[in-house]
Amino acid sequence: MKKGIFITFEGGEACGKSTQIKLFKEYVQSRKDKDNFIFVREPGGSELGEKIRDLLLNYEKDCPVPKAELLLFLASRAQLYEKVIKPALENGKIVVADRYYDSTIAYQGFARKIMTAKEILKLHSMILGKFKVDLTFYLKIDPKNSFMRKGQNAQLDRMEKEDINFHQEVFNGYNYMSKKEKNRFKVIDATKSIDKIHQIIIKEFEKLLKKMRF
Ligand SMILES: Nc1ncnc2c1ncn2[C@@H]1O[C@H](COP(=O)(O)OP(=O)(O)OP(=O)(O)O)[C@@H](O)[C@H]1O
Ligand SMILES: [Mg+2]
Repeated sequence: MKKGIFITFEGGEACGKSTQIKLFKEYVQSRKDKDNFIFVREPGGSELGEKIRDLLLNYEKDCPVPKAELLLFLASRAQLYEKVIKPALENGKIVVADRYYDSTIAYQGFARKIMTAKEILKLHSMILGKFKVDLTFYLKIDPKNSFMRKGQNAQLDRMEKEDINFHQEVFNGYNYMSKKEKNRFKVIDATKSIDKIHQIIIKEFEKLLKKMRF
């Protein structure tokens, strides 16, 4: 059976995920096998997933309680996995995701403490079947630095201490996952230049491709 490759980009706010995915997309466009790639984003990506996204973002009548919110995210993920990611991987495609389950551990687990990391991982083991994430680019940056990056914006100077603690917990969550599942994690110092990080990503991707395809 042909097997696809599942790649995720992770890290706290403003670490550079979107910037790097955009550059990675451009790199993909220069490849002969460019049609073999698909890019996904959560929540959403399937018909039901888009409805759930709408509920999560725009439904103000009866806001989901934190546990309901977490489960709605996971419902969208389950649908995206079965309908889009799994068939793509079965067809040998390369799937690239802007955030995936490490974000849930970091944000809903570590930072918001809705459930423990262990409980969330257990739920995920029911959703994610035989296809596991093959490679995660973790753009690692201390939240104090990424706030400065965002923060030409004066608003952030008034950020309450709680907000910094929240992002520190997000950081702890990613660091926990990068140690727990270190074989799939490529930890990248996100304070390096955009171009340098892009080069590291391409090199690591091509290394994985060689390992998995030959
Ligand atoms: N390596 C870098 N060095 C300096 N600035 C960077 C670097 N990478 C990205 N930036 C800048 O940081 C800001 C946030 O980047 P970006 O939107 O890619 O982050 P993100 O991880 O996608 O954030 P979010 O979690 O909010 O989606 C942008 O202004 C971007 O130009
Ligand atoms: Mg982004």
